[in-house]
Amino acid sequence: MPKDNTAKETKLVLRESMLPEHPRVLDLFCGNGVMYRSLYEERSVRYLGIDKSKIFNAELCIKIDNEKWLLNNKIDCFNVFDIDAYSSPGKYYSLILSRIAVINEPLILFSTDGALISFRINTKLPCEYLISEGISPDFQIPGLYNYYEDIHSTYIKKLELNYPVKVDEIKVSYNDTKTTAYWGFRLLPV
Ligand SMILES: C[S@@+](CC[C@H](N)C(=O)[O-])C[C@H]1O[C@@H](n2cnc3c(N)ncnc32)[C@H](O)[C@@H]1O
Repeated sequence: MPKDNTAKETKLVLRESMLPEHPRVLDLFCGNGVMYRSLYEERSVRYLGIDKSKIFNAELCIKIDNEKWLLNNKIDCFNVFDIDAYSSPGKYYSLILSRIAVINEPLILFSTDGALISFRINTKLPCEYLISEGISPDFQIPGLYNYYEDIHSTYIKKLELNYPVKVDEIKVSYNDTKTTAYWGFRLLPV
């Protein structure tokens, strides 16, 4: 994978702008710990990294598939969730919220959407959006890419229908080629 420093900067600016005062971070795609060393090491009061193939510190991280880990652990002790995926992060939003027994504080989610490229080359929505909107798989949207931001924002807003949260703020940035989107959003308890 080519090194993308603009992506690192963009991710950091987004995270710095939304981190709460005392971040307790669950980093679900911790990788080599770039975000950890650049930000969370200094700012977080609690940190756990998860990665299925590489971890950077055996005391701070667990090497395991994140879905498997999430399904077997409660995560109420965290208030920041980092989903720095290569592909679509959408399914993790619900998975995370479903694993918190009581939502009684603001939650911040950061995500990377590497599946944005599919919006450029397809006219059909990826399946998580079809399911979320109850749309037929045959439905075609010419110029789908132009609607990406609205579509993903709506997907985030719809979390309000299934979980006791209110979406308070959503931010999005892109890499320089606009093939990857970086999202940050705050959920308030209701
Ligand atoms: C973009 S990199 C993360 C970079 C990292 N956030 C950092 O700051 O260095 C994506 C990582 O996701 C991990 N990964 C992909 N699928 C995963 C899964 N199902 N469970 C856990 N880790 C996964 C990969 O091993 C890779 O290290």
